[in-house]
Amino acid sequence: MMTIKTVQATPFAGQKPGTSGLRKKTREFMQPGFLENFVQSIFAAIDGAEGKTFVLGGDGRFFNTDAIQTILKMAAANGAKRVIVGQGGLLSTPAASHLIRKYAADGGLILSASHNPGGIDADFGLKFNGANGGPAPEALTAKMLAHSQEISEYKIADVADIDLATCGTQDVAGMVVEVIDPVADYAMLMEDLFDFDAIRDMFEGGFRMRFDAMHAVTGPYAKTLLETRLGAPVGTVINGEPSPDFGKGHPDPNPVWAKTLMTEMMGDDAPDFGAASDGDGDRNLIVGKGLYVSPSDSLAVLAANAHLAPAYSNGIAGVARSMPTSSASDRVAEALRIASYETPTGWKFFGNLLDAGRVTICGEESAGTGSDHVREKDGLWAVLLWLNILAVRKQSVTEIMADHWQTYGRDYYSRHDYEALPSELATDLMEGLAARLADLSGQDFAGLTVESADSFAYHDPVDGSDSQNQGLRIFFKDGARIVFRLSGTGTEGATLRVYLQRFEAGTGALFDDPQEALAQVIQAAHDIARLERLGREGPDVRT
Ligand code: G6P
Ligand code: ZN
Repeated sequence: MMTIKTVQATPFAGQKPGTSGLRKKTREFMQPGFLENFVQSIFAAIDGAEGKTFVLGGDGRFFNTDAIQTILKMAAANGAKRVIVGQGGLLSTPAASHLIRKYAADGGLILSASHNPGGIDADFGLKFNGANGGPAPEALTAKMLAHSQEISEYKIADVADIDLATCGTQDVAGMVVEVIDPVADYAMLMEDLFDFDAIRDMFEGGFRMRFDAMHAVTGPYAKTLLETRLGAPVGTVINGEPSPDFGKGHPDPNPVWAKTLMTEMMGDDAPDFGAASDGDGDRNLIVGKGLYVSPSDSLAVLAANAHLAPAYSNGIAGVARSMPTSSASDRVAEALRIASYETPTGWKFFGNLLDAGRVTICGEESAGTGSDHVREKDGLWAVLLWLNILAVRKQSVTEIMADHWQTYGRDYYSRHDYEALPSELATDLMEGLAARLADLSGQDFAGLTVESADSFAYHDPVDGSDSQNQGLRIFFKDGARIVFRLSGTGTEGATLRVYLQRFEAGTGALFDDPQEALAQVIQAAHDIARLERLGREGPDVRT
């Protein structure tokens, strides 16, 4: 006999969603009632689950299927009508966003801690996306937090575990559960957007590529798209089997964590094109033969060349970037005479601009790029758009970058991360710096003169909402910029991010090593923020 149980609940501290949903150590998520409380709080924030349709899936990390079982039983107990779930519990974040839109669902629950490692001693996460397919805006996540702090009970159906292995429809306590192929709808969308014939011809002509799925969710998507549909040789996709601990790796597609790929791409026998994606498939890394393309540059190149792909052949409406992302895309927007926007870090801030049709392409320095085809950043989308551009221009990545920098100039760019700092130390450093901001103008640091400094605030032009304290910006007289910001996605202590940027005109030195080209800016950052107080030899990550 099926019963709906109402279970007494006591609030947990720390259910405040961050940059991208609730992200915690896996063991914290596994505490009895922790996940349940948060799921009930999500339902409360959206005025109940009664009669609603949801999309559900995750990146396959440890605890993914257990969490899905719990969420399905809770959705049923809360009166949801239907849940569409990826087979085996898998759905990449962009694929989930697409399914929400395609099937006009009321929202989706996505299980992932993105690029953070997986495993019982690693990280787990849960976020809610709304009917537009995008991450819940701050007003909604605030409601989730508020409810989690006063929760007294949750509802769950007392039923056997649901079969996630077989595609098809089942009844769970009066709710329809539809298990679907996680790849099919997404692959169809990609075929609509890009010129698959041109890309297929390029592969047939001997074009070589390596895609590192980092043992995460994009493996099955990349194999279907690149190897099956586009005819790239089998073996083009490496680390293509999703595993609960991502092969004990760190599924963050940056030059540090995607070491295998980077080594191959910098070697003598490098393929023409290399790419990688993260745990849940929304980030991307792009690398040519011997040349890493920074995410900020990739955004600019994609914006400048998007019209070469069928979906964007009529041009793009505008470009948005997060504040710490370099200004490279701004200059492209200016040349194209289209709008450009600067938003706080976090894909959710692009949602309104995309919904309102003000922008078509968005991107972040944190390796996210995407367009209005979904409401998430999309790793494979970026890879396919690059492939489409390469197929049409018939040039190498290096030739395309050289041409781009000669036309627009180059923003030498790097981000230095100091991870797992004691929270108090990091907060103290930021507060100290914020207090000195007003006095910085006119001062010299490492030979650079500060022109202005502020704490970034964003006024959303669509819904009129305001977001304060989104990072400390310091602008220099010759166009260099430093941004200091605390990460909103970490699960251990605090991570300080230092974003460094310097502009070099198209007639200048365009192929220098970014760390060397930025040496003066890096020194200025140390002097301004007194980084020696962190007691570290250097940053943990340089992008
Ligand atoms: C996630 C979000 C991105 C954001 C990134 C970095 O991936 O989806 O939008 O840019 O985290 O956030 P953080 O707060 O760690 O710098
Ligand atoms: Zn991600």
